[in-house]
Amino acid sequence: VGPTRRTAALGSVLSLAACSAPAQPVAGPLPPLKTIAPFPVGASVMTGQFDDPAFVALLTSQFGQVTAEWQMKMEAILRDDGGFDFRDADAIAAFAAARGMRLHGHTLIWYSQERPAFTRIDGTGKRFADAYRNYILAVAGRYRGQAVSWDVVNEPVAEDGNGYRDCIWRRNLGMDYVARAFHHAREADPRALLFLNDYHLESRPKKRATFLALAEQLLKAGAPLEGVGTQSHLLSDLPPGAVKTAMRDLASLGLPIHVSEYDCSLQVGPFGRRAREAAQVRIAAEMAEAFMSLPARQRFAFTIWGVRDKDSWLRRPPNAGDGTDAPLMFTDDGRPKPMTQAFVEGLTRG
Ligand code: G3I
Repeated sequence: VGPTRRTAALGSVLSLAACSAPAQPVAGPLPPLKTIAPFPVGASVMTGQFDDPAFVALLTSQFGQVTAEWQMKMEAILRDDGGFDFRDADAIAAFAAARGMRLHGHTLIWYSQERPAFTRIDGTGKRFADAYRNYILAVAGRYRGQAVSWDVVNEPVAEDGNGYRDCIWRRNLGMDYVARAFHHAREADPRALLFLNDYHLESRPKKRATFLALAEQLLKAGAPLEGVGTQSHLLSDLPPGAVKTAMRDLASLGLPIHVSEYDCSLQVGPFGRRAREAAQVRIAAEMAEAFMSLPARQRFAFTIWGVRDKDSWLRRPPNAGDGTDAPLMFTDDGRPKPMTQAFVEGLTRG
């Protein structure tokens, strides 16, 4: 996922004309997000951030749930020799537990996390299937009683919505890799809520339809699918109404919905920083209102993909553009922004 390169490049040229990082707009003081929202508000975290007292203070005052940005993924856990390294994942689980924060597990199976321990047994039939089950049992089993939920399979749908991604899991197990992952996760953890997670579900109706079709197939087949995650990595060119339409469609399954990775990049959108910031405010309000329009039982959590703008993946190569993106709810120095105020107002208006 990343802002469209071409438009971002053009946008960067225009922003460079500004020659420096534009001042980040701020809003007046707001009550903590976790006290305003009638559902858990989460943020993505990495262990390296825990040494920054300002980060920890803002995270724990504003949010009640965390998602490991990358350290509970196969790339961090599965060693090339097939062994497991849970140090960072354990540190995140311990951090959350020590502060009474909920932990959302992210993610067990993802097309983009092909690791040597699996590529080495590609095509080995039962051996591959057993290793697949073993990995899921080991990881989901380890955080049983700690993780309230898991993104069991991440991003199964093709980028353009035409069918499903090719990946090592599908090549070895067929599309059954998805249902198997859910059954293995259920076997490992009888209580965690099990999610299917994907992105661009707001901006690409075809991708959303294909995602929903897979979810319905899983439910029909009796797979323990218990929630759907819409990552909501949004661009400021998202037209009005797109968020509400997407949330309505996702809600049609009757399952809990997790806005799982919210951010709104300024790298793509109407020309001019101010126009993009205005769009960001509009979209934040729409997201809040759309989420509030869901029945309470379908409002699982609203997770933001980072705490301060400078913590965002959109400020790190290779997705950093000109380095001035401001996609999150708090400025680099931890102050709420107009989009934060709009989000809060949307919660009360919704
Ligand atoms: O911090 C280490 C550094 O110590 C090390 O030297 C360096 C080189 O190995 O790696 C650094 O860790 C990187 C980490 O981001 C922090 O920057 C990992 O290699 C890198 O793989 C990781 O990328 C993450 C990416 O998923 C892949 O896991 C991003 O942070 C994270 O924001 C991104 O998140 C994804 C969601 O999981 C799924 N939806 C899309 C979203 C954005 O791409």
